Amino acid sequence: MQIAPITGNIGAEISGLNLKQSISSDLGGTLRDALNHYLVLVLRDQHLDVSEHQRLSEVFGKPMINPYARGSDTHPEMTYVIKEADERSGVFGGGWHTDLSFLERPPSGSVLCALEVPPHGGDTLFCSQQAAWDSLAQPLCNLLENRNAIHVGKPYGIKWAPPLEEQSMRGTTRRGDPDADRERFHPAVLAHPVTGRQGLYINPTYTLRLDGMSEVESRPILESLFGHSTQPEFCCRIRWAKGMVVIWDNFSTQHYAVNDYHGFRREMRRTAFTGYSITDFTPGQ
Ligand code: SIN
Repeated sequence: MQIAPITGNIGAEISGLNLKQSISSDLGGTLRDALNHYLVLVLRDQHLDVSEHQRLSEVFGKPMINPYARGSDTHPEMTYVIKEADERSGVFGGGWHTDLSFLERPPSGSVLCALEVPPHGGDTLFCSQQAAWDSLAQPLCNLLENRNAIHVGKPYGIKWAPPLEEQSMRGTTRRGDPDADRERFHPAVLAHPVTGRQGLYINPTYTLRLDGMSEVESRPILESLFGHSTQPEFCCRIRWAKGMVVIWDNFSTQHYAVNDYHGFRREMRRTAFTGYSITDFTPGQ
């Protein structure tokens, strides 16, 4: 097995592994260590079926059902991210976000398998929020340390829901849930629950404002942080191929599905896993 970093800040490609074969506890530990270090893992030519996908996901944590995406009838924790060739709307995940950061216990990470990919386009970008934190100007660090940010499930609620024509995957995602409008407080700077490395924990899809400030007061600060945290130096861009698997850490990253493949179908199968919560890490332990 070889691990080759993709960029200086995030992502590694793992080769020499066949995930259709059983995954020993040693190998599982190596994969978890690699994910905690690189935050995004890419494995080509795996072509996993549903149970192999599920088994891989369980190496990283317990299955988590996404309350806002319709799962498959037989495996509710599996969601299919599909964009049809003639669909002109946006794409699922087509904006920078950390998955479900508005929940009390967001997923620890996800496993995404490419079932059908367009001949070009449809890449996914990931950015390291640890790298973003490490290079943030000191006055902004001072402002954010020991401060919460407030997250809401804007696309899934009522109060902040985007206009119907801008909504993607209509019919497969749950909308209009008043509970998604509920404000959730999470640290703006999060210590990774395993490694303890600090990272920004804000994203433009779900973060509404900073604690102790109004939305209007927070907006210029958040906009500047969103720009800072997604700059190319902190990103890797994953070019998909059929059969490929990507695993990502959801504590210290954001991701963005690029919507540039009109006229072609794309189908991905996705699981999320849980195990750690945002509050699991106690600094100094
Ligand atoms: C997502 O999980 O946000 C979608 C990722 C993708 O389809 O590339």
